[in-house]
Amino acid sequence: MGQSVSERLLAWYRQNARDLPWRRSPAPYAVLVSELMLQQTRVDTVIPYFNRWMERFPTVSALAEAPEQAVLKAWEGLGYYSRARALQRAAKQILAEHGGEIPASRVELERLPGVGPYTAGAIASIAFGQDEAALDGNIRRVLARLVDLALPARSPEGEKALWALARSLLPAGQAGDFNQALMDLGASLCTPRKPACPVCPLAEDCLARQNGTQAERPVRSERQRTPHYIVTAAVIERDDRVMIAQRPADGLLGGMWEFPGGKVRKGESLEACLQREIQEELGAQVKVGTSLGMYKHAFTHFKITLHAFRCRLVEGSEPRPVKASAIRWLRLDELDDYPMGKVDRLISQRLRH
Ligand code: ADE
Repeated sequence: MGQSVSERLLAWYRQNARDLPWRRSPAPYAVLVSELMLQQTRVDTVIPYFNRWMERFPTVSALAEAPEQAVLKAWEGLGYYSRARALQRAAKQILAEHGGEIPASRVELERLPGVGPYTAGAIASIAFGQDEAALDGNIRRVLARLVDLALPARSPEGEKALWALARSLLPAGQAGDFNQALMDLGASLCTPRKPACPVCPLAEDCLARQNGTQAERPVRSERQRTPHYIVTAAVIERDDRVMIAQRPADGLLGGMWEFPGGKVRKGESLEACLQREIQEELGAQVKVGTSLGMYKHAFTHFKITLHAFRCRLVEGSEPRPVKASAIRWLRLDELDDYPMGKVDRLISQRLRH
């Protein structure tokens, strides 16, 4: 006894730390890559991507100099593709402004694209041993339970309280392990549902456990229901080729390739939606053919149900990139070379098999 919260946590971590590839040799570049991948994405999903990435782009300069399409392709399937482009811009900035060395201070880290307060704290503590706190989803939940925080965790007051708590618990010189211990505890024991309180190293410290409020912590802010959109996509076929379009560089799935289409409007049929969208995006008229399936996908702030159809161009109609950045007519065996989001990749696989 007599041990502090951070001592109990670190003792647990020494026994239970997950063996993760970026922990074996926490070089700053490996930590930067892993932390960007781990924003929004689970550890198990990230591991194979991280390993392939480090082979494909082993250094800051290798990444800075790679073609953007190769970078997006290596990220394909991880989602939130703006992270991939931000990571490459960060690499370019590190070369231009820091002689290729990743900066160690929170302030300079936060100037890099894709690096916010959480990621800066994680890199400063894990890669550089600085006494910096980091607050991600797992850590928010652990800390909100530890003090039984009744404020919404994501409100300005809640954020302030949790950052202050994280800083006050930091053991000097061991912030990297401390932060990662909180992450691992949140991922393994202090889970959103059915936390394993009886085996938790912080059970005696935890006010939510004492008060029986684990299920209500962290308190969620009033959140609107996530909207659900019905969308369509056209697989336009001509002479053994299909057409794909590249999305504009900014915004959702920026720079990725897709089968063109868009959101169904109120009262609009799927067929009418597709004809309107193809006219708006590509200045072309299509005849809508048979279904290529229905696909569901969740993004951060909305969900979609997508209906894909085989389409043919109306005689004399020729698509051109009006809203898209570019279009390509591809043989089916070429589709894999173009970075796509999850749903478009599923459609392209269905076409091939
Ligand atoms: N999630 C984000 N960063 C992590 C890390 N370094 N270890 C485990 N989970 C994480």
